[in-house]
Amino acid sequence: MTTEAKPKAGLEDVVAATSAICYLDGDRGVLAYYGYDIHDLAEGASFEEVCHLLWHGRLPNRAELGDLQSQLAAARPLGEGVLRFMKQLPASDGMDSLRTLTSVLGHFDPEASDNSAPANYRKAVRLTAQLGSLVATYGRLQAGGGPIQPDPALGHAANFLYMLTGNRPNALSTRAFDIALVLHADHELNASTFAARVAAATLTDIHSAIVGGIGALKGPLHGGANAEVMKMLLDFGATASAEKVESTIREKLARKEKIPGFGHRVYKTMDPRAVHLRQLSKDLGKRSGQSHWVEMSERIEALVKGEKKLNPNVDFYSASMYYALGSQCRSTRKSSRSRTYRAPFAQNGSVGRRR
Ligand code: ACO
Repeated sequence: MTTEAKPKAGLEDVVAATSAICYLDGDRGVLAYYGYDIHDLAEGASFEEVCHLLWHGRLPNRAELGDLQSQLAAARPLGEGVLRFMKQLPASDGMDSLRTLTSVLGHFDPEASDNSAPANYRKAVRLTAQLGSLVATYGRLQAGGGPIQPDPALGHAANFLYMLTGNRPNALSTRAFDIALVLHADHELNASTFAARVAAATLTDIHSAIVGGIGALKGPLHGGANAEVMKMLLDFGATASAEKVESTIREKLARKEKIPGFGHRVYKTMDPRAVHLRQLSKDLGKRSGQSHWVEMSERIEALVKGEKKLNPNVDFYSASMYYALGSQCRSTRKSSRSRTYRAPFAQNGSVGRRR
């Protein structure tokens, strides 16, 4: 009698595509873009340099970097039509607005219906610049401010923080956000990339493909997890005792509840990106007098690791990191709770995964 192997659920172990861009080894915790280890890129490359790497297969020389920075700067301002739509949207989760407004960008793009490779490249550059402007401007309007024009002298990360807050960011905030963008620039065939590629494979336009990716990214099992992490920390409260945090997490685990920010389909080690986000969370927490969130996160990490052998993923420390970054920049804004947590991930939808 033959016993047929039971098919695994979903697409587990199914090879849907190969990537020349991204190398992932989940057992050893390795992530590399075009052969550059993510740790080296996080320490030594800017987001714009990584965009060039992902789009052209190599890091730029000085002139190429200057050209790309100029193209991004030229594309960054949002048109009046897009701003009008943005102002009409009801207050909502930022991801809903980003999904809708990315679609709106497509209506105004001068090459919307040109799917040639050169036009797609120009649209990817425009989308990269404009998604940052969309998220920042939406966050600004939600906080009661008016839109701020980008400053062509600032890079992508600094412009995002400037357009979000109206204040020129300090060096630590700028570098922290730049590193977060680098870390999120590509991750092979994750759920949102897969969704975007399914759409792109029908030869639809790039805006439609990115809208599909943003829809998948929004879910709490994927990019939505960091908002859930911060919600959990805020529910504990800044002054919660270590005992209270530990007993609550133990109760959740006993009830088989998933703790947001832990576990990964690919990594069996700590997510290499989480190493940098934890450090940035500590640096920003110290600078903003908000170290309690990262300290609470470290206690939760130790407990979940001990009890379930689960490691933090990219979303766990990005929660406290963005929260601390927000309070560094928030001096002139109303509290923003969780509206822009998925910003770097979502902004990068148009950067990686060209082949
Ligand atoms: N908290 C507690 N237990 C967990 C967690 C968690 N976060 N993640 C997995 N487990 C447990 C499961 O309950 C299961 O236990 P069991 O064998 O006793 O039933 C076991 O670990 C395996 O869980 P699966 O869900 O099968 O793991 P899978 O690899 O399929 O799921 C996923 C990965 C979806 C990321 C899962 O770990 C999860 O839901 N995590 C929380 C949400 C999250 O952080 N998502 C962001 C992921 S990173 C990203 O998308 C950018």
